[in-house]
Amino acid sequence: MDDLRFLLLYGVLAGVLFASFRKAVYDRKVANIPIVGSSGFLASCWDGFRFIHHAPEVIQRGYNLYPEGIFRIAHLFRWEYVVCGPKLIKDIAGAPEHVVSFTEGVEEIVQAKFTMGRELAEKRYHLDVVRTSLTRNLHNCFPDVRDEIICAFDDVLQLQGSEWKSHPVLPTMMAIVARVSNRLAVFNSFHQAETKRIWQITSPTQSTYFAAPTKLSYFHRSCDRKIFGPLISTKNKSNAKAMKILGPLIEERLAKEEELGPDWPGRPNDFLSWMLNIVDEDQKAVLPLTLRILAINMAAIHTSSTAFTQALADLTAHPEYMLPMREEVERVVAEEGWSKAALNSMVKIDSFLRESQRLNTRGSLGMTRKVIAKEGFRFSDGTVLPCGSYVSVATRPTHYDESKYENAATFDGFRFARERAEHQANHEFNDSQDIFKHQMISTAVDYLPFGTGKHACPGRFFAATELKAMMAHLVLNYDVKPEVEGVRPADIVFGQRLFANPTGRARFRKRQ
Ligand code: HEM
Repeated sequence: MDDLRFLLLYGVLAGVLFASFRKAVYDRKVANIPIVGSSGFLASCWDGFRFIHHAPEVIQRGYNLYPEGIFRIAHLFRWEYVVCGPKLIKDIAGAPEHVVSFTEGVEEIVQAKFTMGRELAEKRYHLDVVRTSLTRNLHNCFPDVRDEIICAFDDVLQLQGSEWKSHPVLPTMMAIVARVSNRLAVFNSFHQAETKRIWQITSPTQSTYFAAPTKLSYFHRSCDRKIFGPLISTKNKSNAKAMKILGPLIEERLAKEEELGPDWPGRPNDFLSWMLNIVDEDQKAVLPLTLRILAINMAAIHTSSTAFTQALADLTAHPEYMLPMREEVERVVAEEGWSKAALNSMVKIDSFLRESQRLNTRGSLGMTRKVIAKEGFRFSDGTVLPCGSYVSVATRPTHYDESKYENAATFDGFRFARERAEHQANHEFNDSQDIFKHQMISTAVDYLPFGTGKHACPGRFFAATELKAMMAHLVLNYDVKPEVEGVRPADIVFGQRLFANPTGRARFRKRQ
């Protein structure tokens, strides 16, 4: 018994010594990277706690000190390296995946292995579908998107006559976005009433995908996450619910493909068909296909409904933008009708949404990556991050930087429309990419709501189409005002993340 105790004690001591040695070796490698906050062990643990509620101030302080450099801040269990300035952001944006991994960085935030299942985290063919078929089909599928927007606004807002009705904006917009996104994703062939049911799938999934990762981030080591992950995550329940609704549709589609091949007349032009075009035989089953549809829902719905909620808050705070946008939509629709191409002519709507995204970035940090190459990652200024380091870009401070945007902290809804017009007047568009420079879909080292570089959001073309069509529909058909005059619902800050307030309300009525 004594021997066993001795062995246990010896094992624990050896473990602590080894961990301390590894930490000392690691710390020596990053000694040249400045710390914003404390460097001592206990003080930096305290900083890690404080970070949960004071992240934006800490990150802004770091950005003010090192606007073109790298600094580090203490998380509860590790350092986070923060990159600022165009040169270093470009380094991250262009780094090869086997050196600086997007997938591993996302895993830390999303905990996909627990919230979605290991298989989904490893086989990511659904991303190719977003990049290729979804984007290519936006023109063809626009009538469905438009149809769903009309019906979803009608159903969800439930307005009569000239009465004003108050709604909580985020859940209301989430219900609309969920329907519109899924009309294109899977329910293209469905009767409109069926798309209402999609909300039954996506609403529990949203909490599985967003609440569970936050809770899991309190557990540092992967073995702790393996133990607590299955207890915290409700993925099995929400997956089962989704399969109950999507299962019959997928089975019917698989049976048709089996019988008639991939080119049968009337084959729906939707996400499910696009996936079936490229998947391996072992993926042609209800579970893997359902998981992919849920994963796309996760990427698409929270982001887009948050963006629209923030844009509505900007609109109610700045009602002077309503009339010019309404006039623009009326003019464009009279000239071109409702189409994806017509949306391209809605320059003010585009600019308004782009400006709203600039000021309401979903967190102080973005583009999180993990260094996975053994030799670490060397930035162009010579700084080296060792293997295992997590690194992010200071997105929000970049968007609020006076040297990049005039009156950076002021909402200027038509800022980008003016810049676009100025460039056009000066014939400054040098190549085909330049045309998009000031548009919502365009990313840059100083415009990061969709990230930039290799992993820039592939769904942004769809998101821009959907959000512009929704905003155009809203300004044309509804009046909106704040719940309380002059009060914008406060965002919720949790660590580096920033959420639109789910209880924030606005008043809607049919346009008078
Ligand atoms: C306003 C709405 C949206 C915002 C703000 C947004 C933002 C982002 C951001 C910041 C990233 C990570 C970029 C990086 O780390 O470098 C990302 C990735 C991604 N987004 Fe979006 N997104 C939106 C809508 C969508 C939609 C509608 C879809 C799908 C239809 C989508 C699919 C994806 C996917 C699949 C990735 C991962 C890309 C990869 O693995 O390389 N997103 N998005």
